[in-house]
Amino acid sequence: MYLTKEEEKILSGEYGPEYQKAMKALVKLGEAMGAEKLVSIVHAHISGISYRNIGDAGLEFIEELSKVRVKVFSTCNPAGFDLEHWRPLSIPEDFFKKQLRIINALSKMGVKITCTCTPYYIREPSFGEDLAWGESSAVLYANTVYGARTNREGGPSSLFAALIGKTPYIGMHLSENRKPRIIVDAEVSIDEQAYASTLGFVIGNIAKDRIPYVRTKPSLKGKLDLVKAMCAGMGTSSSLPMCIIENVSPEAENADLNYVEEKVHVGEYDLENYFSKYSYSGGFDTIFLGCPHLSLDEVISVWRILSKEKRRVKYPIFLAVSRKVYSKIPYNVLEELKKYGVTILRDTCLVVAPLNKMKISSVATNSIKHAYYLENIHRVKVRLCRTLECLKLALGADF
Ligand code: F3S
Repeated sequence: MYLTKEEEKILSGEYGPEYQKAMKALVKLGEAMGAEKLVSIVHAHISGISYRNIGDAGLEFIEELSKVRVKVFSTCNPAGFDLEHWRPLSIPEDFFKKQLRIINALSKMGVKITCTCTPYYIREPSFGEDLAWGESSAVLYANTVYGARTNREGGPSSLFAALIGKTPYIGMHLSENRKPRIIVDAEVSIDEQAYASTLGFVIGNIAKDRIPYVRTKPSLKGKLDLVKAMCAGMGTSSSLPMCIIENVSPEAENADLNYVEEKVHVGEYDLENYFSKYSYSGGFDTIFLGCPHLSLDEVISVWRILSKEKRRVKYPIFLAVSRKVYSKIPYNVLEELKKYGVTILRDTCLVVAPLNKMKISSVATNSIKHAYYLENIHRVKVRLCRTLECLKLALGADF
């Protein structure tokens, strides 16, 4: 792999062992993948920062690197709890302290403590810009909606890229790898998050690693919250880093369809299987909305529904948002949501939280990504349902 003189110096250890370690890892990765060089990035998003997921080994790894600073604008994925609201969540003291050490180490390196899976609400990528993002849903969203260029980085590789300000020039960074290889015609009433995320899951299952060109009826034009949900679902069932959506993706209009090898149709029926798979109907320890973290519009629409009911929820309900979105929620909305008994969570989600310690074993959610991981990682009983049904469940209303 070609390295500039400066990159050679970093590799030889001239700038210290931390940068050398990062450069060695990037070169090894690049060579394994056949990259001809490294490419400069403008934003690294570091995943794998919850103590629940990375444990002591991950904590030590990040602390070891924290003697040096990142070279580019860097943000981080959710942590194991809301950094300002952890006691009421029954987070054990030891877990709290170790998570805080991870946060402090990242902060020392110059990483912005955003703790969100929606880094595009922190800084919107531009078309054609090279990034190194961890977090599959965000990667799909960046490539698909903005036409930015990022591979699906892992926790360590996104951190190494942040330290060097570069990543191997492979995969999604190259135009030839962004061509669709399958066309998906979806005729589904994707009018809310549960259906949009499940449609994404179904498409991921069919496409596998082939970039899909997706035509939806009705169109997803202007419905970015639904596209966000769809990207999260697709990233859950496949290794896809992007899709091209007609009337949404900047690369849709000039997409080269010469490499398409299959055309499939997806209907309502293909989605229903998943709703019956996640159909737990006992009591719920909590209702969760916010996978990926909610936009301001999504928070407002939940508030609108609850403010029509004008009563407190009967079962705990969490809305997960980034700190940035939280800061934009109007004061009266925040106060009313609290009055109705809604807990707004920042910095975290149920998947990366220590659920067993929080005594949560049954959840209703509108996100198939959450349903999938809650069942597979946490062995939680799950109901996947529309946003409105989630709110009805929280209110204890009959169906
Ligand atoms: Fe975000 Fe957690 Fe979902 S990190 S994408 S809310 S599983």
